[in-house]
Parts: sequence; structure tokens; C-alpha cells
Amino acid sequence: MKISLLGGTGDIGEGLALRWAQKGHEIIIGSRKEEKARNSAEDYMERLKKLGCEVEIKGYDNAKAALEGDVVVLSIPYEYAASTLEAIKDSFTNQIVISPLVPMKKIGKSFCYSVPSKGSAAIEVRDLLPETVSVVSAYQNIAAAKLSNLSLELDYDVVVCGDDEKSKKIVMELTSEIPNLRALDGGPLENSMMVEAVTPLVISVAILNGMKNLSIKFTQ
Ligand SMILES: NC(=O)c1ccc[n+]([C@@H]2O[C@H](COP(=O)([O-])OP(=O)(O)OC[C@H]3O[C@@H](n4cnc5c(N)ncnc54)[C@H](OP(=O)(O)O)[C@@H]3O)[C@@H](O)[C@H]2O)c1
Repeated sequence: MKISLLGGTGDIGEGLALRWAQKGHEIIIGSRKEEKARNSAEDYMERLKKLGCEVEIKGYDNAKAALEGDVVVLSIPYEYAASTLEAIKDSFTNQIVISPLVPMKKIGKSFCYSVPSKGSAAIEVRDLLPETVSVVSAYQNIAAAKLSNLSLELDYDVVVCGDDEKSKKIVMELTSEIPNLRALDGGPLENSMMVEAVTPLVISVAILNGMKNLSIKFTQ
């Protein structure tokens, strides 16, 4: 599958790009600057080559990256997501767009969810993009530092929310391809607000209890 990562030069984009490239997907790194995207792509290819995995990763500006992908991940900070999407709206037709976006603010030592006017970042993204785009939310609760450490066994859960069952299934399958990540159906996109809100809680628990890079796992 062709997967584009807008802002794929950053933390969460790096981990997803490396993990999916290892599984044979065609990866396209997006950036505000094409040269930066190309440099990151080369860097990721080099890292994978050292592990015996020779792949081609491309680097384009965000507009071209979005145009090329069947699946487009918004791996950019929440604060800049709306302006980025407004600027490159024409690049979207009928892709699956994955939102890992987490709106949050710092209060004292810890973080809390910063509730967007539409209820969640994922709903905001859905309303910004053409109706033909299918928005699925996922990966909000996965620590980027762990995702990009390819020698780490992850053993975490990813709650996936979306209104189109077929698109949600594709994202759940992509998630399950990453060793030991378990994709869990989180219901419709409206539920994304609950998943997004878990992230500032997890980060706060880490800060207040001397822990690092926590992710989540449901057990029964
Ligand atoms: N980090 C995590 O552990 C983690 C975990 C789960 C979910 N998330 C979510 O994933 C998203 C990305 O997080 P991240 O930690 O990967 O972010 P990041 O590393 O801080 O930034 C990612 C990329 O965003 C682009 N960017 C920066 N400023 C921008 C601006 N003003 N306008 C447009 N693009 C800009 C940059 O790419 P260029 O300079 O190349 O354009 C940057 O490399 C966030 O919404 C976050 O909530 C993060």
C-alpha cells in the first residue's frame, strides 16, 4: 500500500515509516520542505539497510505526498494540522486519512486534553477535508520513541475509530502488521475524543510518577 506521512520527518512519522517500510509498504515522507523530506527518507532507508532491509522511501513536499498516498497520516502537531490541510486540500480525493492528533495543553507539571470546538481533532479533520476522504483515528496513545526503536517489542494496543468500516479495517490491518501492536475497534469517529484524551493522562502519569514513554494495553 502507498502510505504518505505528512510531517513524516518528525517523531511519530519516523516510527510509522520505518515499521511499515519493513513490511514492504511504499512509503512517502512529506514535509513543508521537499529537501527535508528527502533527507529523512534517506536517513530511514539507511537505518533499514543496516538491518538488512533494502527499500525505497520517497520524500516530497506535503502537497505532493498527500496526492500520492492511498493512506495519508497526519503526523504533524495538532496546532498546525488545520492550516496545513487548508493549504493542501486539493491534494485529497478519496484517500484514507489517519489522525493521530492530540490537542493538549500543559497545566502546572502535567497535561490535560484541550477539547476542540468540534469535540475532537479527528472530527475537525473530517470536516476540513472533502467528503470523499475517509478519516480514521489511531496511534494517539503510542509513544513515538518506542515505535521508532526497531529492536523494541511493543506489546501495546491501538484503538482505531472511524465511520467507514472498510477504511477502519484497513487501518486495523496496517496496525496489526507492526509486530505485537494489537488493533482494537474503538467504534465511530465520534469516539476519537476519548482516545485522544487518554494521551495527556498517560503523559501526566509518566511525569508525575517518574516513568517514561508509556503506552496502553487493555487486559481482561
Ligand atoms: N510524539 C509522540 O509520541 C506522539 C504519539 C502519539 C501521537 N502523536 C501525535 O502525532 C502528531 C505528530 O507528533 P510528533 O511528535 O511526531 O510531532 P513533531 O515531531 O513535533 O513534528 C512533526 C512534524 O511536523 C512538522 N511541523 C512542525 N511545525 C509545523 C508547522 N508550523 N506547520 C506544519 N508542519 C509543521 C515538521 O515537519 P517539517 O518541518 O518537515 O514540515 C515536524 O517534523 C501530533 O499531533 C501528536 O499529538 C505524537
